[in-house]
Amino acid sequence: MRPSYDQLRHQAAEHGQQHLFRYWEQLDEPERQQLLADVAEIDFPCVARLVGERGREAKLDIAAEKIKPAPVYPAIPAGEMDVQYRQARERGEELLSASKVAAMLVAGGQGTRLGYDAPKGVFPISPVRNKTLFELFAESIRSIRKRYACRLPWYIMTSEATDADTRAYFEDNNYLGLEPDEVRFFRQGVMPAVDDAGKILLADTYRVALSPNGHGGSLMALRRSGVLEEMNGRGIEAISYFQVDNPLVKPADALFIGLHHSTGAQISSIAVPKADDLERVGNFVEIDGKVQVIEYSDLPESLARAKNPDGSRVLNAGSVAIHVLSPAFVDMLTGAGRVSLPWHRARKKVSHLDVQTGQKVEPEEPNATKFEMFIFDAIPLAERTIVLEQPRSEWFSPVKNAEGVDSPATARRDMIRRAAAWLEQCGVAVPRDGSGEPAAVIEISPLLAVDANQLCKSLRERPKISAGDRLYLE
Ligand code: UD1
Repeated sequence: MRPSYDQLRHQAAEHGQQHLFRYWEQLDEPERQQLLADVAEIDFPCVARLVGERGREAKLDIAAEKIKPAPVYPAIPAGEMDVQYRQARERGEELLSASKVAAMLVAGGQGTRLGYDAPKGVFPISPVRNKTLFELFAESIRSIRKRYACRLPWYIMTSEATDADTRAYFEDNNYLGLEPDEVRFFRQGVMPAVDDAGKILLADTYRVALSPNGHGGSLMALRRSGVLEEMNGRGIEAISYFQVDNPLVKPADALFIGLHHSTGAQISSIAVPKADDLERVGNFVEIDGKVQVIEYSDLPESLARAKNPDGSRVLNAGSVAIHVLSPAFVDMLTGAGRVSLPWHRARKKVSHLDVQTGQKVEPEEPNATKFEMFIFDAIPLAERTIVLEQPRSEWFSPVKNAEGVDSPATARRDMIRRAAAWLEQCGVAVPRDGSGEPAAVIEISPLLAVDANQLCKSLRERPKISAGDRLYLE
């Protein structure tokens, strides 16, 4: 139950945030209820602690020589590893067949960089049919369910910014062919933005300036929403975690899941070789024997550029934010003896109400701090973790920016490239232009295949492809 008005007002005052109620007297009843709901979301002691730590926050302060590349399982197993990979794949297939795997998508981000005014999942992306990201994920999940004759429940984390539109999209589109009770939405928590004096900002007379607490908030959200309990009730043993921005993602991959499970890992990750030294991805490193991710923005440039004697990059394992988590690990991190992930802070421009003048302020420069937790900070908390390297062309081409790198154009290009490569592996001739790019626009529905092997088995006849064709295979 929500604390009462008196309790919330007292709490706010106790932490020097009484200004949140400055306009109380002039609010109508629905506005008062909204303000109370917003204030009830605030963890005042946590905000006070973060404000108090300002300037002393843990910037990456580790001697560069301590930062080593993380050990990775290679994409192509060598020697005896071959057997281990085969057994791991079988384990993954067993887990999938026994419906012990759940897919989990984090889709609470505000997608500001893409400049798209709707949840990113409804962004149309596929090269021929213009399917949305959500449609592609749903088709992959339907395909895996069919292949393993299993249930593969899909848990989607939303935030206040994306929740209503995401649910409406699924309802309006017949749950994209999935049974509604196999798709479950849950909402992540929020954190308030604070100004330089440590005061929580009001977005309006009756609204606090709240924003999603980062994808690391998904761990607590799993518990608070009852999803974790539901997963345990269903006997789920592996949570296959992915982000909304990557149309190439494999939402539940047998090898990855099996390797995670058979090595007894608590959280596992997919890595791809970095595209360039300064690519804006997290880097898998090992520090004092612990694997962790250092975000590109925190990695000293000299380390990002460091090379081995043979010219290869020292830190080459880039994070694509695809993980498998064990429910028991989530339980441990969020239960009685819970361990909080660290908070990261970002200076942002936050529109707000100036409580002195009552005027709306649209800042031109960053004026406030927002706080977020990152899922990959759970990695060093695990006793056992693995990183599996996979080819970028098979797994990763995110839609982050409106143009340039990691944009809709590059994602479509990479979907076509992957489709062409799969077809060629199945013996289909694909016309290519002078620079070696496929000369046709090709889309393969995940319902037909989620990898080259499945495509070769599913193709009824080999399509004839001519330059300039637009080909959709389902
Ligand atoms: C992220 C990773 C980076 C990784 C890259 C791969 C961080 C800080 N960095 O970068 O290490 O290499 O992806 O693409 O995460 N989300 C929520 N709630 C939130 C915030 C985000 O659900 O409060 C979701 C988004 O909807 C999206 C995902 O998390 O699905 C990624 O969010 P974003 O902040 O865009 O991460 P990146 O900075 O792109």
